[in-house]
Amino acid sequence: MSVEALEKNKTIDLRKRHIGPSCKIFFSHDPIKIVQARGQYMYDEKGQRYLDCINNVAHVGHCHPDVVKAGAQQMELLNTNTRFLHDNLVMYAQKLQATLPDKLSVCYFVNSGSEANDLALRLAWQYTGNKDIITLENAYHGHVSSLIDISPYKFHQLSDAEQNQFVHVAPSPDVYRGKYRADHPNPASAYADDVKDIIDKAHKKGRKIAAFIAESLQSCGGQVIPPMGYFQQVAEHVHKAGGIVIADEVQVGFGRVGSHFWAFQLQGEDFVPDIVTMGKPIGNGHPMSCVVTTKEVAEAFMTSGMEYFNTFGGNPVSCAVGLAVLDVIVKEDLQGNALRVGRYLSSQLEQLKRKHPLIGDIRGCGLFVGVELVKDRVTLTPATAEAQEVIYKLKEQHILLSADGPHRNVLKFKPPLCFSTEDADLVVEKINFILTELEEAQGLKEHGSPNIETEGSKRKLLTDENGHQKHSGLIHSKGSDQGAPRQFKQNKRLKT
Ligand SMILES: Cc1ncc(COP(=O)(O)O)c(C=O)c1O
Repeated sequence: MSVEALEKNKTIDLRKRHIGPSCKIFFSHDPIKIVQARGQYMYDEKGQRYLDCINNVAHVGHCHPDVVKAGAQQMELLNTNTRFLHDNLVMYAQKLQATLPDKLSVCYFVNSGSEANDLALRLAWQYTGNKDIITLENAYHGHVSSLIDISPYKFHQLSDAEQNQFVHVAPSPDVYRGKYRADHPNPASAYADDVKDIIDKAHKKGRKIAAFIAESLQSCGGQVIPPMGYFQQVAEHVHKAGGIVIADEVQVGFGRVGSHFWAFQLQGEDFVPDIVTMGKPIGNGHPMSCVVTTKEVAEAFMTSGMEYFNTFGGNPVSCAVGLAVLDVIVKEDLQGNALRVGRYLSSQLEQLKRKHPLIGDIRGCGLFVGVELVKDRVTLTPATAEAQEVIYKLKEQHILLSADGPHRNVLKFKPPLCFSTEDADLVVEKINFILTELEEAQGLKEHGSPNIETEGSKRKLLTDENGHQKHSGLIHSKGSDQGAPRQFKQNKRLKT
């Protein structure tokens, strides 16, 4: 029996008519219709298999049978809200807490990453009595109004006048392309000192800091791995100023980084955020999310006198799903798999870097890996169009990958945690082939060779993953060379 209710053209037609045009689709000139998925594979209406390298929501694998069964069984019994006693709620809270440091002991269950971060801001405002928020350059924390305000990934097109006065943007702690790089003697302190400067300037204007919010590893911001010790020092400055620290683990939590269950733990045991927000992988596709905080913050929230009620958050079905996800992570040692396969993937990519001048940087932890493409390893000119070309060509080879970061030149790996070394080999082999073709077409030479322009061999590249010359949806243009004429200058300084 076909799993497709409508023919593809009809689906496209109805989507155009009834779905908001700002809801973008991958590869809009030739979108993929996915009708089924299992593990790390997705299938289109013709049964064509795609290797999914990007879906961090399907954390334990698409449609994992244990998760599906747990949700279905609970749905047959009961689904209601948290105003009734239910074992699933408390058992899930207890099990989730066991993955966290003791201090983080109180949960609020909500329905999306945006809801979690919005609630985190309310908690911070209530606990501190302050208003101002420090966020990172290129950060994205969600789609609701309060979060667009603190998401430079979205609001950076606004003029200074339009930007909210209570929001302060600190530099992204990116040691590859950022303000302080790997050759800086102490990038962690330098980036943390910038946060302190922001606090001092805000104080001079009579403003007070409620919170510093950051992803433990920036994802949309370009797969950025902050230097060790950064968060400890930021926390010290923020706490001194009366604020608290919110770690957004919506993309990076639940064992993805391999060595730890939570990405903030990469910084060491001496860093514990005051609030952790979770989403995407928490329900393996079931819409649920969570805010975990300290007793002190939760008690301060209570003193406002306002009840916190959330119709769907923490319902018995969501909690059954959440429990099943935690069980599968342990039963199938998916955190261990993330560590092993992540290391393997990174090492294979490192080998590609030695060969391909277009690869500027490989960075990652576990199955959270970024490959930054540059036209020149000295100037770091982003290879935006080339990254989009790679994505597009991989799609033709039935591999789904995306490119992100402020210049949209970072290939992002964040697959389901059941990703295998064979999957890694397949995608690396295809990228190798595509980069070789691209470099040949551009007159770039492989390892050790100068970067020579060959007029006749230049060819036109796509500028976004949807195959459009002009990118129309995501706000990413600032600082990007998207659509700019490409010039492949002779560069004898090319290092490998
Ligand atoms: C880091 C981060 N935080 C929060 C969100 C918002 O989550 P949701 O789309 O579930 O509201 C996202 C979504 O992409 C995200 O990447």
